[in-house]
Amino acid sequence: MKNDLINKIILGDSLDILSKMETNSVDLVLTDPPYFLDKMDNSWNHESVSSSKYHHAVKSLPPGMKFDRKQGREFYSWYLKISTELLRILKPGGFFFSFSSPRLYHRMACAVDDAGFLIRDCFIWLYTQNQVKAMSLNHFIDKLDVDDETKNSLKEKLSGWKTPQIKSCFEPILMAQKQHDGTFLKNMLKHQVGLFNTEVKIGQNMFPSNVITIDNIEEIIDKYFLLPKPTKVEKGDFNIHRTVKPMAICEYIIQLATFSDDAIVLDPFVGSGTTAIAAKNLGRKYIGIDINEEYVNIALKRLGEADSSLKEKRYKAGKLNYQLPLDNLL
Ligand SMILES: C[S@@+](CC[C@H](N)C(=O)[O-])C[C@H]1O[C@@H](n2cnc3c(N)ncnc32)[C@H](O)[C@@H]1O
Repeated sequence: MKNDLINKIILGDSLDILSKMETNSVDLVLTDPPYFLDKMDNSWNHESVSSSKYHHAVKSLPPGMKFDRKQGREFYSWYLKISTELLRILKPGGFFFSFSSPRLYHRMACAVDDAGFLIRDCFIWLYTQNQVKAMSLNHFIDKLDVDDETKNSLKEKLSGWKTPQIKSCFEPILMAQKQHDGTFLKNMLKHQVGLFNTEVKIGQNMFPSNVITIDNIEEIIDKYFLLPKPTKVEKGDFNIHRTVKPMAICEYIIQLATFSDDAIVLDPFVGSGTTAIAAKNLGRKYIGIDINEEYVNIALKRLGEADSSLKEKRYKAGKLNYQLPLDNLL
């Protein structure tokens, strides 16, 4: 990889930047792409969208319930292009983790699969804190051309019945891998990637799992799947990004899937920089890309403040067993 990209956050459209990156040069891609479901425009600018007519695009559905089939298909063809570039850039055996949404996971998985990756697993990030979006139909009943008595009786009949939006309590994370070069062992010896570090523990010293949480949910779940909660300083009080990911989850995945101290972690949709900071915290190299200048500046500020000793302090009382004993193996 050319040095001018390493440990940088690059402002630009990912497809353009990725097309200029070297083949077989990156160890891990960890990202959380835009889903185009959240009232965001192509520059991920919420303000311009909320002041525009965009959010009335699907008029027949109540806000929060809009579902345009086109969005899924457009996401698929765009992510197919992104994934095709990522497949080229990743080293053989390199892993690709992509946060997703339950509504869009199928399109993401097909795009990554069709680009040529091996779909290896689906991680589940469990949480309890999320706003319920389901709506009662009273507002629509009020608009019906019927008398008040009929309206009231309809409201009573449908009391408790809402739009089909259950409280969303998990986020799927796609796990894919570029075809390895020969056996797993040969691939590891040649490219320093392709196996998982099972010395990383979650919960109370458990073998790494594809279920993770940062909330204390219940004794058994915590025992197996808990990672440290984000600290107050982690996000930065200047960070206005709306979808900041928990550092512990990014660190967990980076620990699991990168072997060498020189490993390069790429996030083509880096937002406020969480993946890059997690990589820096773990002594890995990073490349971040984002199309929005404001987020690039936030990421740079967070990176400037990132201090690996913070992580040590944070994890001292935590449950993660961060060891990298494989360093001396080869
Ligand atoms: C879900 S957010 C990532 C948040 C990030 N994980 C964090 O912890 O801050 C997705 C990001 O993708 C960026 N983005 C959207 N379209 C892009 C494109 N074509 N190229 C590069 N970045 C893009 C947005 O600006 C946004 O910050």
